[in-house]
Amino acid sequence: MSETAFQKCTNPACGATFGIDEVLTGCTKCRSLLDISYDWNRLPVPRSLAFFEHRWMTKGMNASGALDFSGVWRFRELMPFFRSEADIVTIGEGRTLLQTADLLAKQIGMKQGNLALQYEGLNPSGSFKDNGMTAAFTHARMVGATKVACASTGNTSASLAMYASLTGFKGLVFIGSGKISIGKLSQALDYGGLTLQIQGDFDDCLRRIRQIAADPKNGIYLMNSVNPFRLEGQKSIMLRVLEARGWEAPDWIVVPGGNLGNCSAFGKAFMEMKELGLIKRIPRLAIINASGANTLNELVSCRGVKWNGGNFDQKTIGGLYAAMDESGYKPHTIASAIEISRPVNLPKALRALDVMNGVVREVTDEEILEARAKVARWGFGCEPASAATVAGLQKLMAEQIISPSESVVCILTGHELKDPNATVKYHTGIDMKAAQDLAPREVPHGTLSNPPIQVADDLDAILKAINA
Ligand code: F0G
Repeated sequence: MSETAFQKCTNPACGATFGIDEVLTGCTKCRSLLDISYDWNRLPVPRSLAFFEHRWMTKGMNASGALDFSGVWRFRELMPFFRSEADIVTIGEGRTLLQTADLLAKQIGMKQGNLALQYEGLNPSGSFKDNGMTAAFTHARMVGATKVACASTGNTSASLAMYASLTGFKGLVFIGSGKISIGKLSQALDYGGLTLQIQGDFDDCLRRIRQIAADPKNGIYLMNSVNPFRLEGQKSIMLRVLEARGWEAPDWIVVPGGNLGNCSAFGKAFMEMKELGLIKRIPRLAIINASGANTLNELVSCRGVKWNGGNFDQKTIGGLYAAMDESGYKPHTIASAIEISRPVNLPKALRALDVMNGVVREVTDEEILEARAKVARWGFGCEPASAATVAGLQKLMAEQIISPSESVVCILTGHELKDPNATVKYHTGIDMKAAQDLAPREVPHGTLSNPPIQVADDLDAILKAINA
């Protein structure tokens, strides 16, 4: 009998399928992104979302309750790519909170009761990435991988390093030198990740790690969001939003856009729930870019690029990228988490915008910082990239695209303490950023000291550092 889960090319004109045990980051026929697909007819799909309700009360992470305790795996029937529950890697992720934010709503002119903040910073490593990492580590374990790696603007690396240390994988992270916030860098070091500070930015790091992971000789399993298994776990963020709202969709979901994995996962979650008859209404989606890293907004809002049934305008996209190359464009924003100019999940994000009747906007660093301060003062706080959602909401309200009487959920993707420099600078004007370029000034002397390795953006130098 063939398997009920498989990998499928997202390009409808291709539609090639691959087995669940293949380690791929794209279609081998047409190079498009892959989805994890399911033969739902042969799977025990719950008849209604209320089926999941009883699991929420699980008391703890004991052997029998670990999967129900996880805010990802308590929805496991909707991401059934694992063969047995014993495959699943979980550290208790996803027990996050949807908070009705009336004080913040008042500040920005929303009606009371209509604005809610989804605090994904309450995950074990302090960001939403844990939702995806638990799923990708599950697949990595299924295929017998031992060495996992990612490029990161900081949160993916923190999450990867945490899961690797807790599950006995070797974790490798590539970060742009001086490009990630101090809180995130400290996590990767502390959890024992082999941390390479590459002279370049996120886009350079991702290009390199994809190149290295593509060579089977290197034995590296790639954990970036081109890995379709990761996005399966991130679907659970939408399930928790629905759960907290008594399974009623809000009018709008607002999410920051970086590499565009998260918004893609949201689109897939709603596409599947609709197909399965689990929801009646799909919320609208607003993806918010930082102005200093606005590729999606430029393509969608300014140049009119659309999913178009999978036949999207590659020429316009290629044209923008060529112009960026020619002018030596580098993204730059205070929201370092989303400082990305070549989002790898762009096609899936276009699909999510199509499924969720979405819009894209960009907001300036100043707007992000003001929104971040508001969330801190009248919420639990978040890092700058997460606050792009509230800034974007204000913009969409000013444009009368979102009305104060609609229900809105802003996804706060990362914890405030991820980037204390941004906070201190906002309040005092003092910039501690110089400390982020952590070339060890003296020989670290702790028994577990794990300093980052500085390396040029050069394949041989990187392979030498990895294999040293
Ligand atoms: N918010 C935060 C806090 C993030 O760390 C990221 C991405 C995003 C939003 C954007 O999500 O990439 O799915 O569109 N951070 C990645 C990283 C790139 O390496 O930590 P996305």
